[in-house]
Amino acid sequence: MSVFFERKKKEERRIKDRNFYKIFDQVFDRETMLTLYDLTNKGYFEYLYGVLKTGKEANIFLAEDSSGDIVVVKIYRIDTSDYTVRGMRKYIDGDPRFHRIRASRRRLIYLWVQKEYKNLELAYEAGVSCPRPITYMNNIIIMEYLGKEEYPYPMLKYYGRYMRNPRQIFERIIENVSRLYCKANLVHADLSEYNILVDEDENVYLIDFPQAVSKEHPQALEFLYRDLRNVWNFFLNYEDVRDLETIFNEVISCNKKNI
Ligand SMILES: Nc1ncnc2c1ncn2[C@@H]1O[C@H](COP(=O)(O)OP(=O)(O)OP(=O)(O)O)[C@@H](O)[C@H]1O
Ligand SMILES: [Mg+2]
Repeated sequence: MSVFFERKKKEERRIKDRNFYKIFDQVFDRETMLTLYDLTNKGYFEYLYGVLKTGKEANIFLAEDSSGDIVVVKIYRIDTSDYTVRGMRKYIDGDPRFHRIRASRRRLIYLWVQKEYKNLELAYEAGVSCPRPITYMNNIIIMEYLGKEEYPYPMLKYYGRYMRNPRQIFERIIENVSRLYCKANLVHADLSEYNILVDEDENVYLIDFPQAVSKEHPQALEFLYRDLRNVWNFFLNYEDVRDLETIFNEVISCNKKNI
């Protein structure tokens, strides 16, 4: 993997550093560069490796922290489309934790990142299997890396055909969705085979939390049903899954023992 964000001596790290600008000007906007710079100065990471994935809203980078561990740096694009911005509002308005805002695009994205971080924090504290949140600043969030050495755990989407015990994987997902709902009071709202990673022991991890809403959001149950249906639909290809209504009722009743 190519290292393109090299550790610099303190005096070399000054923001006026011409080389620093030369490399990053073309990749990041100025604010993003300043934020990255701030985060390295605060010691959250030292080297930024290449991009792991470019998404619609964000790019995911791997980075190395001062103890040599890999962390994930998710950088939201400020120049994201109007369509995406409208989509974001749907998951912010209606959540009692956030006031309805008439924010600029930049502020809305900062709020989106803050929301992703807070959601991850609530989920992680409730014992949901998800990346441990490390910090956030402006349009950047840093979290635990889920993978073995330089190989990130695969998405359920691609792991599907290799599953040894699909039923167990399915139940583990439902267990985590229940924990998220009953203990963290959250609904993921974008759950599918693309936002679930699976490790070599077939443990599952829920990822990508910005759109998660509080239970009190007027559409929370609708989102929960959609999440369960997405997962259920995926497993239909692999096994005889239980009835969707039963699973939904089981989750919202919150009386399962192992959550
Ligand atoms: N903590 C993590 N550890 C390992 N891999 C990760 C982690 N977070 C994200 N990834 C990888 O990066 C991909 C994109 O991450 P994520 O879903 O959070 O971003 P996104 O911008 O919302 O992407 P998309 O628009 O495709 O949903 C994931 O599918 C996963 O493969
Ligand atoms: Mg995603």
